[in-house]
Amino acid sequence: MTVLITGGAGFIGSNFAINWLDQSDETIVNLDKLTYAGNMGNISALQDDGRHIFIHGDIEDQSLLQKIFLEHAPRAVINFAAESHVDRSIDGPEVFMQTNVIGTLRLLEASRNHWKNLAEQEKDKFRFLHVSTDEVYGSLTPNAPPFVETSRYEPNSPYSASKASSDHLVRAYHHTYGLPVLTTNCSNNYGPYQFPEKLIPLVIHNALRHQPLPIYGDGLQIRDWLYVKDHCSAICSVLDKGRLGEVYNIGGLNEKSNIDIVHSLCGILDELVPCAADTPLKSYKDLIKFVKDRPGHDRRYAIDASKIEHELGWRPSETFESGILKTVKWYISNQEWVEDIRSGEYQSWIQKQYK
Ligand code: NAD
Ligand code: DAU
Repeated sequence: MTVLITGGAGFIGSNFAINWLDQSDETIVNLDKLTYAGNMGNISALQDDGRHIFIHGDIEDQSLLQKIFLEHAPRAVINFAAESHVDRSIDGPEVFMQTNVIGTLRLLEASRNHWKNLAEQEKDKFRFLHVSTDEVYGSLTPNAPPFVETSRYEPNSPYSASKASSDHLVRAYHHTYGLPVLTTNCSNNYGPYQFPEKLIPLVIHNALRHQPLPIYGDGLQIRDWLYVKDHCSAICSVLDKGRLGEVYNIGGLNEKSNIDIVHSLCGILDELVPCAADTPLKSYKDLIKFVKDRPGHDRRYAIDASKIEHELGWRPSETFESGILKTVKWYISNQEWVEDIRSGEYQSWIQKQYK
């Protein structure tokens, strides 16, 4: 038995592949384009593992997809591959439409072609699981109830619009062709191997180098934070037990403002690597800098995860306190990993975004 994952050299996909092979002997075929966000260093632990087959390629490449399905006949597809950074989508939306919309369409089409020729019993067992985001639901006011699976789609950034489009395609493939699909909409993840353009790894990275910690606008925007391994376990539950054609929201029950997140990170760093007495810094908090806001910045996201809890029995196992401590410790002990990905591309993005 084989599962095909896409984007498995990125943040969540690499954590998923590692966790999967910790718990199962089922082979993973991992298709990744290795964009700036994909990194073989994330899956170096799997390089000599015969249960992990890495394929360097694009989900938009129809002939490659056809070859992969013929050769590996996966019993399931889990689509992580995406352009995932909101700020980059504001800077250049086109590649987001290409990968997130056209790429998902091509993957759905290849899956359908494979699935329709399967024997009845295998056909029933096949799954296409699409990994999506809570951002498709738009922004909440301070006292509004959290997003449920039936909340209206109101994407506000080119990134979330592209993910919303891909969600609709997945739904349409179920409704029209009967493809056995599942969709998950998850809140903000954090943990090992996250590219340091996203808030949490960026702040840890900059603090350790005594560089400014940029906070957009007033820093009171709220996100619901989930430790990445909990997201991976939720995806496994949905793959195993989710009802076909259904959507499952996944969240961490951890609504926090950005400024609170940055204060927590600084507090942990002050304990673990106190600022040296010969520097002007007393605390990493001294590095906080309020900068120009993100255009169209969503104010609040929050997830009601009661459907996945009641139907599938999933709950996050980390609290924010335990997960964030593990994360900061991981970044401190994996500075080599960080240095390896601080390529020219990373530097030019940081220069452009924070000039
Ligand atoms: P990431 O940017 O870290 O990784 C994306 C991976 O996809 C990279 O390895 C990249 O090389 C690969 N990729 C990009 N374009 C590709 C293409 N055309 N063909 C094949 N591979 C391609 O992203 P992430 O944070 O790991 O997110 C994974 C998925 O989870 C995305 O679909 C994202 O929308 C969703 N998601 C992310 C979060 C979060 O907080 N990070 C939360 C909810 C949902
Ligand atoms: O909600 C799920 C989404 O979470 C995923 O779908 C996306 O792929 C993922 O990137 C993430 O999107 P966000 O835009 O919420 O994440 P980001 O880490 O970029 O920003 C988190 C918050 O921090 C957001 O309110 C913007 C703010 N921020 C971010 C950066 C990079 C800052 O204040 N300063 C910064 O420098």
